[in-house]
Amino acid sequence: MAETYFAVAPPGLERFLLSEITALGLEGKTEPGGVIFSGTRTDLLSANLRLRTASRVLARLGTSFYARDFTELRQRAGKLPWERFLQPGQAIELRVTCHKSKLMHTDAVARRIHEAIGDRLGSRPELAATLDEEPDGSVQSILVRLVDDLCTVSIDSSGELLYKRGYRLATAKAPLRETLAAALLMASGWDKVSPLIDPFCGSGTIPIEAALLAADVPPGLKRKFICENWQGMPSLNRQFDLNTNLPPILGSDRDAGAVKASLENGKRAGVSQWVSFSHQAVSAIEPPDNATGWIITNPPYGLRISEGKDLRNLYAQFGNVLRAKFPGWQVTVLCPDLALLGQAGLPWDTSMKWKTGGVQVFVARALVGG
Ligand SMILES: C[S@@+](CC[C@H](N)C(=O)[O-])C[C@H]1O[C@@H](n2cnc3c(N)ncnc32)[C@H](O)[C@@H]1O
Repeated sequence: MAETYFAVAPPGLERFLLSEITALGLEGKTEPGGVIFSGTRTDLLSANLRLRTASRVLARLGTSFYARDFTELRQRAGKLPWERFLQPGQAIELRVTCHKSKLMHTDAVARRIHEAIGDRLGSRPELAATLDEEPDGSVQSILVRLVDDLCTVSIDSSGELLYKRGYRLATAKAPLRETLAAALLMASGWDKVSPLIDPFCGSGTIPIEAALLAADVPPGLKRKFICENWQGMPSLNRQFDLNTNLPPILGSDRDAGAVKASLENGKRAGVSQWVSFSHQAVSAIEPPDNATGWIITNPPYGLRISEGKDLRNLYAQFGNVLRAKFPGWQVTVLCPDLALLGQAGLPWDTSMKWKTGGVQVFVARALVGG
């Protein structure tokens, strides 16, 4: 039976998510903040397992309905097929947003929805005391949106957010979300057969995601999804065809602790055989085998003003190293600061912008010596 799903991604990443959903053989349509698609529960499991750029996947509960007073809300919400999603004893949390609607009191809406679930199931599920910004997968999150009196109810199928692949336990300073690292790789146009270098690798997220991508390893292989507990769920097929023919993938950082974290994370992700991490400053990086390839990275930014001069020097040095040693290489840098990027003196294309944690970041791309 086909259901409607919505894969969520940070603004700006929707088109990468759409191409991933299309590659799964599903038809999707971008909307601000994600991609809507329809599919079976097997497709839902596969989306959770395989999508690299989605932060979570929601399932729509039935169809949207009008609710202009609380009686109507409880009656209509009580007709939704809750039993297809909630197990007896499963604790829930209700996230309610209301815009331009007669019902604007989110706590009162949540109360009626909770009562409606009880009407349908015969008993009310336990309500989690507080809303957790970083869900741990133990509580089933339900999202209720009222816009112009039209109520849409969705249920989270992922549990822990999908950027939590399960391999990054060791972190260095300012780690990049795995979903953003995957999107950065896609935005760079990396062909998966040429060498890739991240000279500011921190905890190793970009090289590790690059190896998972090129080896075709599903990013969610090592974790569980809350929808695996839903009523009548098929079992998740974790089989995949591994590609072992990978180019050199190199990460380096001047911080020894960061390199140690990268090595540990790479081991946990199962990619150690494909990724090399080394302890060195950006000035020491060298292209492997005189080949050309991609530099994809997330250098430091946004430090205290007093350190701004050091950062400007660092970006200028980065540009010098690239021009001296990497002519013909493609460079992609994630950075919110155009003035810093300017210091590198490369012919940046900064037309691509994303929003992450409310902050705008540029995906700056250039061909060295181009
Ligand atoms: C924003 S963090 C990178 C985060 C990384 N993408 C991750 O997911 O963990 C920037 C990194 O650049 C490193 N760094 C700063 N100056 C450097 C230099 N001159 N050479 C090499 N690495 C440097 C820092 O140690 C830090 O780990």
